[in-house]
Amino acid sequence: MNDRLLNQACLKELNLTGGERILDVGSGLGQFTRLMAQAAGPAGRVLGIERDPGQISGARELIAGSALESNIAFRNGDAMDLPLEAGEWGSFDLAHSRFVLEHVPEPGKVVAHMAKAVRPGGRVVLADDDHAQFTPYPAPPGFHTIWDAYCRSYDRIGCDAFVGRRLTTFLVEAGLKPRRNTLVFFGGCAGDEVFEIAALNIIKILEGARELMLEHRLISSENYEAGIAGLHRWMTLPDAALWYGMNWVEGFKDKGKDKG
Ligand SMILES: C[S@@+](CC[C@H](N)C(=O)[O-])C[C@H]1O[C@@H](n2cnc3c(N)ncnc32)[C@H](O)[C@@H]1O
Repeated sequence: MNDRLLNQACLKELNLTGGERILDVGSGLGQFTRLMAQAAGPAGRVLGIERDPGQISGARELIAGSALESNIAFRNGDAMDLPLEAGEWGSFDLAHSRFVLEHVPEPGKVVAHMAKAVRPGGRVVLADDDHAQFTPYPAPPGFHTIWDAYCRSYDRIGCDAFVGRRLTTFLVEAGLKPRRNTLVFFGGCAGDEVFEIAALNIIKILEGARELMLEHRLISSENYEAGIAGLHRWMTLPDAALWYGMNWVEGFKDKGKDKG
């Protein structure tokens, strides 16, 4: 994911002041985990939890030999059953998750664990997609067909393509108080240096979901190819614009709440 496109904007919303203990749930290759660790400074600590062992070893390699090795740790485990040690529950200043809740069948359970992981007064930040917000303009021919099939492919695997709109509800259900929500811009237009990256990112995501869409007969292969070709043509238009924002919320645990 492109640094300028999204990471710096996400970091700005987080507004880390230094020294935080952070839990990053679904940390992937740790690109954003590393940025949070840098922003938290030498006194900060970040623990990344990731289900895929390949991503964990890749993430560890990326910090090997650097100063970040002393304040980042990656641990293998499931976000729906966080592998924290007894003394870690109720100890984090911030529990963060980005682009993870859309991939899990029980996102509320993940947030409940995150709420348990933060200290009284601690913060939970959730950032995830609502795919209904994705608007390429002028609308490429065949786009609605392929995008609709892509969104429906989420429920075929027990997930929610529109999970982003539910984020404040997850906070409340986990006993947290929502304080702020926003959209983090994740688009661009012709002439902007990030536009090609943003547009190609979407095409790559649709290509990655091709088999699932075809297997579940959500789209014909002809309509799939037409949708992809339409996006490639749209990218070259002088007035092409991609309107997309990632849903972002933060909530807090009561200061009076017991540890854990
Ligand atoms: C799209 S990536 C996002 C990575 C990172 N959070 C970021 O924003 O750059 C989603 C990550 O969540 C991980 N993931 C998905 N389900 C998970 C689960 N149940 N427990 C832990 N990690 C999970 C995936 O393996 C993947 O690395």
